[in-house]
Amino acid sequence: MMTQYHKILRQSARDVLDRNWNGHFTRPAPSLYPHQWNWDTGFIVIGLATYDWKRVEKDLQFLFRGQWKNGMLPHIIFGNDPEARYFPGPEFWQAERASMAPEQATSGITQPPVFGFALWHAYRHAPNRDEAKTLLRALYPKILAQHAYLYRDRDPAQEGLAYICHPWEPGTDNSPTWDSALQRIDPQQVSIPPYTRKDLQNPRAAAHRPTQADYDRYVYLVDLFRSADYEEAKIAATCPFIIQDPLFNAILIYSTECLMHIARLLDEPTNQLEAWRTRAVAQMNAKLWNPQTGLYDAWDVVQDQRIEIQTSSGLIPLLAGIPSKTQAEQIQRTLEGPMFSSRDTWLCPTYSLLAEDINYEKYWRGPVWINMNWLLYQGAKRYNLDTVAERLRTDSLELLNRFGFYEYFDPRRKSGTREGYGTDQFSWSASCALDWLAET
Ligand code: DGY
Repeated sequence: MMTQYHKILRQSARDVLDRNWNGHFTRPAPSLYPHQWNWDTGFIVIGLATYDWKRVEKDLQFLFRGQWKNGMLPHIIFGNDPEARYFPGPEFWQAERASMAPEQATSGITQPPVFGFALWHAYRHAPNRDEAKTLLRALYPKILAQHAYLYRDRDPAQEGLAYICHPWEPGTDNSPTWDSALQRIDPQQVSIPPYTRKDLQNPRAAAHRPTQADYDRYVYLVDLFRSADYEEAKIAATCPFIIQDPLFNAILIYSTECLMHIARLLDEPTNQLEAWRTRAVAQMNAKLWNPQTGLYDAWDVVQDQRIEIQTSSGLIPLLAGIPSKTQAEQIQRTLEGPMFSSRDTWLCPTYSLLAEDINYEKYWRGPVWINMNWLLYQGAKRYNLDTVAERLRTDSLELLNRFGFYEYFDPRRKSGTREGYGTDQFSWSASCALDWLAET
């Protein structure tokens, strides 16, 4: 039932998305992220679809203008706002060095492939489904091309798992999972082009952002890619950071499944999608599943070894129906056990509460993120884990209600903080809330 509390929260969430709309697309947050971000847009359109379908269309049309000719969907599509302060901008990425780049200014790496599922969830909210099918028809081949790119160019061994080559690609920038691979880049030993960060100009976010050493490595990798003119084979051969991430791949698999629903609506064949999905699910279980912890791990392709770091990314395969029923029960025990849950914490911290180096305030090294809770919620529902699904939903809405539409939140109920962390007025936090509130 929609209570007064829900109505107020819904209006505040719409206000966030309305303020972040710039006439062409919805910015994740105008000061810290003033352009269009790939996976943010996926979550944004799901919330927007609950009340403004025209903007869903415009947001997605703008985003796909940035798609590269090989199907790659860049992680940032740059807008034209002369006031926008962001590093690295188009002049640093130099995407035009790639023969595959479009006219539109973009970055040169990708982000989790959310559009199969984002379009499907948005469609389910559409006020007029017949009209909405026009958008499905226009985007279906583009999303298919994105998946073909990932399963072709990002999986040279044809295992069924796509790799990421930069910590910005999985979206979980400074997750502890990336630490060991990033250690291979010694900022003292390699040449790093000069640069000036702009994210630290945001006083609220500055304290929790990735460190300078993290940024040196992020920038080093961008320089490596642009020097290779963004040629995939060269990057695969020289990049010290090539990883198969359970979050990225679970999202890819779920989007593939949702593309199958869309294909059926459009009378398109599903064989290729089915083949990708079957192979990927089998490989997630054969290679990334860790029966000791009840989590899926990331795989370091350069060293050919498992990365045994316990983050919430390892729980997300629930979303895509990857675990068997028995594995899902084990994942539930992991999620409700001491790694991710206690009476004194909100669900779900992004890093194990048992890890000695958990940092409750820093970006992807501990805090609760609302989009991760949304993904996990969908997964829990899928396996009829209704109690934990409801906890994910109520904890998320309560965090937003108490602290505001922040980017991430301290997982400790008694942290003493009165605010969330990172930027406020954050679009996907608002958007996930709108989706949940549409269910009440
Ligand atoms: C940032 O700028 O912090 C983003 O996460 C990179 O896309």
